[in-house]
Amino acid sequence: MLKKLVFFFVFFIFSCPLFAQNPNDEEKKVFIDNLLSKMTIKEKVGQLRLISVGGDLTLDKVLDQIEAGEIGGIFNTVVEPDLSRMQERALKSPNKIPVYFGFDIVHGHRTVFPINLGLAATWDRNAFAKVAEVSADEATSDGLNVTWAPMVDITRDPRWGRVSEGFGEDPYLASEAGRIFVEKMQKQSLADKKSLVTTVKHFALYGAVEAGREYNSTDMSERKMFQEYLVPYKAAIDAGSRAVMVALVSVNGIPATANHWLLTDVLRNQWHFDGVVVSDHGAIRELINHGVATDAKDAVRIAIKAGIDVSMNDEYFLQFLPELVDEGAISEDLINQACRHVLELKYDMGLFKNPHRNLDPNFDIETMFANDRLHRTEARDVARRSIVLLKNENNLLPLDKNKKIAVIGPLADSKRDILGSWSGAGRANLAVTPLQGIKNAIANPKLVSYAWGANLSDDPNLDKFLNLYGESSKFDKRPANKMIAEAVAQAKKSDVVVVFVGEAQGMAHESSSRTDLNLQASQKRLIKALKATGKPLIIALMNGRPLTVKEEYQQADAMLETWFLGTEGGNAVADVLFGDYNPSAKLPMSFPDNVGQIPVYYSHLKTGRPHGTVNMGKYTTSYFDSPNEPLFPFGFGLSYTDFTIDFSLSKTEMSPNGEIEVIANVENTGEREGSQVVQFYLQDVTASVSRPVKELIGFESITLKPHEKGQVKFVIKYDMLKFWNDKMQYVAEPGKFNVFVGADSTTKDKQTFTLLDN
Ligand code: BGC
Repeated sequence: MLKKLVFFFVFFIFSCPLFAQNPNDEEKKVFIDNLLSKMTIKEKVGQLRLISVGGDLTLDKVLDQIEAGEIGGIFNTVVEPDLSRMQERALKSPNKIPVYFGFDIVHGHRTVFPINLGLAATWDRNAFAKVAEVSADEATSDGLNVTWAPMVDITRDPRWGRVSEGFGEDPYLASEAGRIFVEKMQKQSLADKKSLVTTVKHFALYGAVEAGREYNSTDMSERKMFQEYLVPYKAAIDAGSRAVMVALVSVNGIPATANHWLLTDVLRNQWHFDGVVVSDHGAIRELINHGVATDAKDAVRIAIKAGIDVSMNDEYFLQFLPELVDEGAISEDLINQACRHVLELKYDMGLFKNPHRNLDPNFDIETMFANDRLHRTEARDVARRSIVLLKNENNLLPLDKNKKIAVIGPLADSKRDILGSWSGAGRANLAVTPLQGIKNAIANPKLVSYAWGANLSDDPNLDKFLNLYGESSKFDKRPANKMIAEAVAQAKKSDVVVVFVGEAQGMAHESSSRTDLNLQASQKRLIKALKATGKPLIIALMNGRPLTVKEEYQQADAMLETWFLGTEGGNAVADVLFGDYNPSAKLPMSFPDNVGQIPVYYSHLKTGRPHGTVNMGKYTTSYFDSPNEPLFPFGFGLSYTDFTIDFSLSKTEMSPNGEIEVIANVENTGEREGSQVVQFYLQDVTASVSRPVKELIGFESITLKPHEKGQVKFVIKYDMLKFWNDKMQYVAEPGKFNVFVGADSTTKDKQTFTLLDN
């Protein structure tokens, strides 16, 4: 009888579809094995080359290389006829392998959404999903099938310009955004015509460059990496991201592009990533500059051995990989393996069956712009959800639509700047500036006056820097006092002043680190002059990173953080100014009080001499010339109404297989409908390693009418209590935990429970 049972069990296991190999996988393997067996080494290397048209590489040269089977993918072209020609030529290559088309679709494609730091401020999973879906929809209609996004580098140093591209300082918030981007862009199946393959970047730790200086090195304990900085990449990979882009920087002394531990031990072996690993632009050549490769050939050898599959903007793979195989310096297996990753991706995208899947000669981008009101409506909605209300003295906001408004400042009417960086396919001419948005919102646009007021900066070098690549940041040559006088005159004639200050989009981009996060002197002078008019002053910040704005915070009657809001930004600003939308956004990154505090972030570790307990100010962790606290903490943001939050736990003890329910009661105690993001933090009180004072592990938004009450529920599960312990094992340790629920990361409202041994 027992024998029979065993037989049936074994038979059941092997006949059960769950355990059998997926027939598609088998088909795919046969197809790719067959293809690989026919490919020359040169063609295999061709699949590892990602090329963009430009410089010496004219379109004709690229077309010839494609036909020769020397190019696997193309990036940075969005001209449909060119893409179609490229695909036609690929189908004439020796093995007729189609090319894929990639582009940086970071925060929208043609319709531009807020920069990701602004998007993160929505704390709204639906908003993340909307941006990802619309981006994928427009990009795939436009001929593309791969994006170099999401960028999920944790950023705690606002001196680094690329903080604008990511989702801020917190691993959980960034992971949620990254996960949703991957799910909504790639969709259930890559073969879906609307699926856009994601490339999570920049693996890894690019956001932790020393001193916030672009392309500098990063150095970090493994515990901090696994506990915090690597978490969002892992979340995006677990969500199925089929590609990863490698960081330009070195990680603990070894450039990421040459880092076998990172790309192979962690990514492939521990995380089981089986997609495509793409180098960043020119990163292989840069191994020589890093000082780990003697020459280009050496760099190629090191990169492929470390785990790079595809070389972005390749210069050297074709030149050296076949030679390196011939010489026995690398095995052909390594090339086969990398090539297989690319071919599998193309297979899963359905490119072999339908190489033209995203190419439609009849698709007219102009018609899309003209007709697609829906995407603009969605862009406006996400944009207004991204605006953070930082101050609102005497309820100055929302404004009455019958007031005379002076709209001032170098960013008030800039169509290019409001799109933000990485908006290459966006159309500035279609963007709505704040000035236009404010006029659109009121019945009598004559109530609105406008003045430039000041250049973004007095520094002509900054102006030159911003226009290096023809990005057209405007510089007014009139004398500064004349511009200010004009603005002051407008202010005096008005009931209220709204001044748009901050950064040009090019100041919050790749290669735009700064050491001084104050507003530029020219802008400070303008604000001072406007303040002196005595008119109520609203300061609207437009920028891509936390700035140090303590002085302006004191001068302003009301203050808004508007980031770079995208195509519909101006209308969104008007929605908030006039109360057609009640602001609900929360900062995804702490705003420092001064640069000396950097990095300042909420989830820092406990110390042996906590601040403010004994001998306040002396022999405790503190500065004698600055507060410890940032100007605005992580998670902070006001509303035109008020909320109270209290909460309780369903139990005070939890066993490893148990759960605790956290019930938060929220009440809108004000007179307007509004939404509150209820934030849920945890603290492991005692553990084998020092743990942060607080970590975000959940958030939910609730919308309530005036005086309405509602509930938000969270569940604490065992896995949420895990961390990397003293032996670098990922475990939960029994003991006490504090739970905090509130409206920002400074909440002190606390409940405690104990995790039992069993
Ligand atoms: C950036 C990447 C980007 C690539 C292609 C590089 O300079 O670091 O984030 O995807 O260019 O545009």
